[in-house]
Amino acid sequence: MEEEGVNLEGSLPVPSVQELVRERQPDALPPRYVRDDVAPADHLPESSQGLPCIDLEKLTDPSSRSTELRNLHSACHQWGLFLLVNHQVSDEGMGVMQEKVRGFFELPYHEKQKSAQRPGSLEGYGQAFVTSHEQKLDWNDMIFLKCLPSHARNLDLWPQNPPEFRIALENYSEDLRKVAVAVVKYIGMALGIHEGELELLMNSFREGRYEVRMNCYPQCPEPERAMGLSPHSDNSGITMLMECGDMPGLQVLSRDGRWVTVPPIPGSIVVNLGQIMEVYSNGTYRAPDHRAVVNKEKERVSTVTFCYPSPSLAVGPSPQLLTATGLAPLYQTLSHSEYLHRFYNRKLDDAVPFYRYPQAVDVELMHSFISSSSCIVCHEYEFTLFHLFLHFVYSIGELLVCKL
Ligand code: OGA
Ligand code: NI
Repeated sequence: MEEEGVNLEGSLPVPSVQELVRERQPDALPPRYVRDDVAPADHLPESSQGLPCIDLEKLTDPSSRSTELRNLHSACHQWGLFLLVNHQVSDEGMGVMQEKVRGFFELPYHEKQKSAQRPGSLEGYGQAFVTSHEQKLDWNDMIFLKCLPSHARNLDLWPQNPPEFRIALENYSEDLRKVAVAVVKYIGMALGIHEGELELLMNSFREGRYEVRMNCYPQCPEPERAMGLSPHSDNSGITMLMECGDMPGLQVLSRDGRWVTVPPIPGSIVVNLGQIMEVYSNGTYRAPDHRAVVNKEKERVSTVTFCYPSPSLAVGPSPQLLTATGLAPLYQTLSHSEYLHRFYNRKLDDAVPFYRYPQAVDVELMHSFISSSSCIVCHEYEFTLFHLFLHFVYSIGELLVCKL
């Protein structure tokens, strides 16, 4: 149990798992990594067949958009996670970044330590959310860097090695910002958001924060007793994960409580919704719990980009959505800084999101309302008063043209 009031913006230094494996080559898991809370059966891979795949080109193309928006809506509602293909980031761009991240973790320890976290900050090479010397540890080393806006970069923590790591990260975060703005636009449209509010949402991600966490999960002597990354949901708007190899490890919790392995599909990006988008959708979409498991055979490396809207956007349910559905807000609206303050000062084992209103709101009723909200005139995927109004204006126009 964590004490109340512990601040999570810093993390205690922990040993490097890569070093532990390299130096000791253990046959058994060191005690601090043994997770009695994880049942071995829990590690059995579940079929990933039901996981949705979304095609960004189909969302861009007007002839396929409405069908793909329906798929996106269902993906965000059912899973809060999907594989994104045809996302416009070149294979080369992704390949370079993968090579640099793997290159970083292959460096000697003393070289990586040049980017070591400083007390009180999560940025740099180390670990996150370790607040006591007794706490169980994840089988993971990571480096976490703020990338955008560019003035937020702490370049003294950006590795100088491998050569061209920095330029690769700069280019990669710019590429992912473009994808994030497009993805957020279509998530907004899938929710029925339009016009000024949709523009505002997109702009806030254009001007938002992009932070990259690169994870290394070394081979593990007893993978069924360890955890690569403990179950959590992200506090971002959306998160985009790129595998840097072909070893599976990421798992997502389904609505019926099963851990489902997300397969590494070359060239795809795994998108999951973070808590800011769950709140924005007033609970229609989920920020799913997910985790990383480890294996005996091969080290796994992943690159995870957390995308946040600009701090000028309050964190709360979409005003247009509340008006269109007539439903009560399920979450409080907080300023961005208050939202982050509560996140970093939450209790670590808090299961209930810290910003949720205590009163019961019929979420299922709200979901059924939104799922059935296609236009009653054209049956396209859009049901808003404004859309109906356009039909009305159009009909009047047609009438006038016929009369003339
Ligand atoms: C994360 C995360 C999963 C993975 O870094 O927040 O969920 O598979 N990573 O690396
Ligand atoms: Ni995560």
